[in-house]
Amino acid sequence: RGFDLTDAADLALIETARAPFMDHCFEAAPLLAGTAQPAETVVVPDPAHAPGVAAQGAGGDAWNRAMGAGRASWASRGDVAIAFDAARIWQAGPGERAAVLRRAADMYEAEFGPIFALLAREAGKTLADAVAELREAVDFLRYYADGAEGLARPARGVFVCISPWNFPLAIFTGQVAAALAAGNAVLAKPAEQTPLIAALAVDLLHRAGVPRTALQLLPGDGGIGAALTADARVAGVAFTGSTATAQIIRRALANAAPEAVLIAETGGLNAMVVDSTALPEQAVRDIVGSAFQSAGQRCSALRCLYVQEDIADTVQDMLLGAMEDLAIGDPWHFATDVGPVIDAEAAGDIRAHIAAARAEGRVVKAMTVPEAGHFIGPTVIRVAGIADLDREIFGPVLHLATFRAQDLDAVIDAVNASGFGLTFGLHSRIDDRVQRIVERIRVGNTYVNRNQIGAVVGSQPFGGEGLSGTGPKAGGPDYLHRFTKGDLPQAGQ
Ligand code: NAD
Ligand code: ALA
Repeated sequence: RGFDLTDAADLALIETARAPFMDHCFEAAPLLAGTAQPAETVVVPDPAHAPGVAAQGAGGDAWNRAMGAGRASWASRGDVAIAFDAARIWQAGPGERAAVLRRAADMYEAEFGPIFALLAREAGKTLADAVAELREAVDFLRYYADGAEGLARPARGVFVCISPWNFPLAIFTGQVAAALAAGNAVLAKPAEQTPLIAALAVDLLHRAGVPRTALQLLPGDGGIGAALTADARVAGVAFTGSTATAQIIRRALANAAPEAVLIAETGGLNAMVVDSTALPEQAVRDIVGSAFQSAGQRCSALRCLYVQEDIADTVQDMLLGAMEDLAIGDPWHFATDVGPVIDAEAAGDIRAHIAAARAEGRVVKAMTVPEAGHFIGPTVIRVAGIADLDREIFGPVLHLATFRAQDLDAVIDAVNASGFGLTFGLHSRIDDRVQRIVERIRVGNTYVNRNQIGAVVGSQPFGGEGLSGTGPKAGGPDYLHRFTKGDLPQAGQ
């Protein structure tokens, strides 16, 4: 039934279940069906990998305070060759594959204690985000298990799955589950910042019954991703991460494996428009959630807010007031709304962006934050429009613009002209206007009179256009077909 974080009994249950894992040393190493070579490098996560924990010295024993959440051994380039040699298409019928994925879903749910602990320690996730992430991972497993039962077409072969750190469980699991549901062999490379949670997930999938030859784990940095995508034996790549990396992978595949399919889900410059008919209280709640939840580290997060000038002062005042209510800090604490960003590099990049805006007198508000750790206070920066944003700032930074009623179409044109097309939010109570904008805006997911994050698997397939992704949408009915041989089915098939 999921957890209710306003329920004291549920909170007590979560605390009891995860407490033993808050001091535990987690491990990640290549999980190969062939013989693993001695690890090239042993990486001990520094405080950046357990940002709210090690950096603040909160909780944990001495080892953990010094070392972070665990240790990881990187796969070597030799391991990449071993993994390709050992990989075998999953020789089980769709019904059996579905049963195994459903068993894995049950096991994920049963393991919520270590999963919540790891999401906080390795990725800096707040409890609310950790709960939502586990829910999404489980939804992916069950949704693709259902989809497997309707698939009549053969697997493609060896699929390389490359995932980002910001959904280290849900996106990692979604890619892997889809490729496995279709019967492929999977070589999974998690983000270098979050190998531990990936190792836990692969262990659960193996224990649920996925053969080791059908699922191998290769923790490592972008170099291992590059080695995996430069092998002629790749039948497909499922990638989620930055647009720049997707472009590198496309070029690598064009050279090494031109027949391989690339499914890429990438970044966004996401906008929201609030017109003068919007309900300010509702809009502000949805702006705060869209821009600052998960410390803004969602591809779907709101980056550029346009408010019609007639209500701009009201909305801005309410927004700045609502920000005061955000609890920023240690993700171990249940009350925290905004945790740390992923690492020192990310924090430095975001701080530099805010500092540049401050030097130009454009910072409207910047919240103060704990001194230790990689915390960024939610910040509002004034801009003229989305064209002022030359890249995705992956943190809790909202850019605020106003528009005149007669310029609404120009705003939509400007958003379309950014080249990205992931999410878009609209607050308006004029039906005709909503209809017109929804038809004109070129994004994957449009949300009307609600926040623009947290797409639900199955009911809100998620994915972008243009620089934001190739499609098909994850958690939607066409996704699995891309992992099989043959063309997409026509409508109605
Ligand atoms: P990233 O592109 O830096 O890294 C993503 C993955 O690619 C990592 O596993 C990394 O090791 C690997 N990689 C890096 N270089 C590589 C190479 N040359 N060849 C192969 N693999 C390589 O992205 P990130 O910083 O981990 O994630 C944040 C980005 O992901 C943001 O841009 C965000 O918008 C995007 N994202 C998109 C979605 C979506 O569904 N559209 C979801 C989450 C995150
Ligand atoms: N699927 C995630 C969201 O919708 C990224 O926020």
